[in-house]
Amino acid sequence: MNAERSGATNATPAAPPDERPMPANRLRRKDLVGIAELSVDEITLILDTAVAMKEVSSLSIKKVPALRGKTVVNLFFEASTRTRTSFEIAEKRLSADTLSIAAGTSAVVKGETLADTAHNIEAMSPDLLVVRHSSSGACHFLSRICRSGVINAGDGMHEHPTQALLDAFTIRERKGRLAGLKVAICGDLLHSRVLRSNVLLLGRMGADVWLCGPPTLVPAGFGRSGVHITSSLDEAVEGADAVMMLRIQLERMLGGYFPTLREYFKVFGMTVERARRAKADVLIMHPGPMNRGVEIASDLADGPDSVILDQVANGVAVRMAVLYLLSGGVEHEAVA
Ligand code: CP
Repeated sequence: MNAERSGATNATPAAPPDERPMPANRLRRKDLVGIAELSVDEITLILDTAVAMKEVSSLSIKKVPALRGKTVVNLFFEASTRTRTSFEIAEKRLSADTLSIAAGTSAVVKGETLADTAHNIEAMSPDLLVVRHSSSGACHFLSRICRSGVINAGDGMHEHPTQALLDAFTIRERKGRLAGLKVAICGDLLHSRVLRSNVLLLGRMGADVWLCGPPTLVPAGFGRSGVHITSSLDEAVEGADAVMMLRIQLERMLGGYFPTLREYFKVFGMTVERARRAKADVLIMHPGPMNRGVEIASDLADGPDSVILDQVANGVAVRMAVLYLLSGGVEHEAVA
């Protein structure tokens, strides 16, 4: 499916919101809990649908009726700025009825379990649950016990599938493809769910993925996943089409993985000078939130090669695509 065939690309004056055609395909699954479960065709469908969805955000009336009558509950048990906001905006642009629950204002603080919270929300008949949780596997668990579709908005150190999808969308939008591109992902690899989802997605789509970080922050097992691993930032960045910097996740660190933040920046911080080893049209990326002066220099993050805010903007289109494509597949029986 592409945007042209979907009919969502209007060269003539835009139709009123209720008449604007939408892409016809659906994901044949109830949940999106990880990139691991997605085929190349499903990833391509989501990225192509997001092209059409991005046009909605450029209209004066940023709304289509695709999810009218559907209820989406955003359950965030962990802090978020970008993911939560962009899911909420995406839901509103698709005309869903939507509400957000943060752990701090829910009965979780009184000791309610995740399963009880989910079952109580499900008693009110939502169609989709968007879930962020600090425990790896929380979204898989909910997808098994919930009748509603579950979308993983980041679970522990496991996966952040919509982040990888929006990263891929941003690269593909700028470069026209993913296959054959050198993508360097650098920083705190160990604690990053963004890394795991990106390695799966970019690898599946044929990109040449390089990982760089201190040996103490390289997860075991990645050597078998077809990626290159180096502790030399220069080697990782050499000739790269895209450089994605990852945040040092101090909140998930129990031990001393490197001497000091100043030392870390000296060896692993990305600067304008180091980025010159990459291709002239390199894309500088970061999923956010950034630690300026730790993994990335401010002048690079704010410079002409940076697509960091494009990633954020594209997050709305990609999440619209995911919500839309899953919304036809929510009438499944719970399996447990
Ligand atoms: N990239 C990302 O997940 O950012 P938030 O934590 O702000 O959602």
